Amino acid sequence: MASVTSLSHSVEQHLASALSAALPEAVGADPLLRRSDRADYQANGILALAKKAKANPRELATQVVAQVVTGDLIKDIEVSGPGFLNVTITDKAIVENLGARYADADRLGVPLADAPGRTVIDYAQPNVAKEMHVGHLRSAVIGAAVTEILEFTGESVVRRHHIGDWGTQFGMLIQYLDEHPHELDHKDAQVSGEEAMSNLDRLYKAARRLFDADEEFKTRARRRVVDLQAGDPHTLAVWQKFVDESKIYFFSVFDKLDMEIRDEDIVGESGYNDMLAETCRLLEEKGVAVRSEGALCVFFDDVKGPDGNPVPLIVQKSDGGYGYAATDLSAIRDRVFQLKANSLVYVVDARQSLHFKMVFETARRAGWLNGGATAHQLAFGTVLGKDGKPFKTREGETVKLVDLLDEAVDRATAVVREKAEKVGLSEPEIEENGRHVGVGAVKYADLSTSAVRDYKFDLDQMVSLNGDTSVYLQYAYARIQSILRKAGEARPVAHPELELAPAERALGLHLDQFGETVHEVAAAYEPHKLAAYLYQLASHLTTFYDQCHVLSADNAPEVVENRLFLVDLTGRTLHKGMALLGIRTPERL
Ligand code: ARG
Repeated sequence: MASVTSLSHSVEQHLASALSAALPEAVGADPLLRRSDRADYQANGILALAKKAKANPRELATQVVAQVVTGDLIKDIEVSGPGFLNVTITDKAIVENLGARYADADRLGVPLADAPGRTVIDYAQPNVAKEMHVGHLRSAVIGAAVTEILEFTGESVVRRHHIGDWGTQFGMLIQYLDEHPHELDHKDAQVSGEEAMSNLDRLYKAARRLFDADEEFKTRARRRVVDLQAGDPHTLAVWQKFVDESKIYFFSVFDKLDMEIRDEDIVGESGYNDMLAETCRLLEEKGVAVRSEGALCVFFDDVKGPDGNPVPLIVQKSDGGYGYAATDLSAIRDRVFQLKANSLVYVVDARQSLHFKMVFETARRAGWLNGGATAHQLAFGTVLGKDGKPFKTREGETVKLVDLLDEAVDRATAVVREKAEKVGLSEPEIEENGRHVGVGAVKYADLSTSAVRDYKFDLDQMVSLNGDTSVYLQYAYARIQSILRKAGEARPVAHPELELAPAERALGLHLDQFGETVHEVAAAYEPHKLAAYLYQLASHLTTFYDQCHVLSADNAPEVVENRLFLVDLTGRTLHKGMALLGIRTPERL
């Protein structure tokens, strides 16, 4: 494994040292290099530097050019406009750089972070005894991608699935199941996710009916909540049955999503029960939280209700019960002090932003987030239907995640089937590809828009072969594999001595940016920028195919080899990038 310095970085270094030679006070200044249509790169940084030094920007640019040594890397550099630098690099440098990436099969030359840290990421957190919805889908998909990307940069990542498995609603369920003990018995050892969910749903409805109709049951149910929080063993055993049944269902959905969730990473709200009292005590002792009308509250200057009165974060209710905030504050203590995280990331619906703002600020005041650790909510927007309204069924109910995934797979299978004969796919292959295309379509649609924006869930658009979709990228990958198969004896080999066509250079320069993109995406938790990068990569590939034939008899053998090499590296980059997003790339499609 050898990491490769990107061409853009090497050029940047060259320019930075030429710049400091021309203008000593510019030591360490960023020449602000960008890809450009006019040349390979354009540096725009001179303008601001000249202004600061009260120098003429064009003159300064001319002095910088005089300092640059052209040769192996930089072929040509010239001043343009008010003081920009246009830089063209040699074909040889491009091919050699890509060759080094190609030789590093696992990482494609992408370096590890200089100082990786430890991140605890909170994602894929559905609620026990409840159906998963599209919001849970977003958290799972975005969280899994960010996790993969962070790990690829060398970060040590701890996953925490903070499931909703605690609270007053369980009193009613536990009491009901205790009074009807065989309701969750299974005839078969193997229970499907669907069955588990329908068992829970049936039980939930029955318990609710009784709770609303029978005052005495209500009283018994309320007592159960107290027993649960006090850790009564029998109550806990009944509660555990709900958790286990729900996990059967969760795992079946994660499995459908082609996502690996480990049981040991599921640490729900209940996991912090033992810490709640101490968390409250510490907050009160430090003066961060105060008693107000019997409740333990934290106040904020800038958080007020519509009536202008402050809205506190309630850490403990006046009846002594603990809520969502106490759990999250305890989780922060656990993640910072036990798990030793430097970064806490929460992939949670934007509608919980006020909660996290208050929780983070409280933890900061308590001194739990001051040391090395920072917290960030990776907030995501609402999933909307085609009509632009929150996603509901025609009957106005929330859409079941499973139905949605099944429909995506059905549509994708139809798309795959249309081309299957030409490619020679068997029925099992069609089905497998249909799953990978369908699930990929849903994930990609989610990951290709900036998380915080609401997005329209439009299956027609998601499985479209044209445009910014996963299936477009998957076809690009499969086409590459088909060319490599058709190449027969010819092998991919890098030939730095060859002159490159413009489309080859453009593809090559984009391939060079993979590592930089991954690191940017990891630093800002922005998987949509990786999706955009991959889409551009596939577009560069399409232009390349149009302008450069790969397996043409007119090509010299080394041209065929070099083009196969470019194509193969593009395939590997697509494959790696898609894998980081959690999306499969079938070999034949
Ligand atoms: N279970 C919650 C929900 O469904 C999400 C939990 C988010 N994570 C957290 N640490 N609060 O809305």
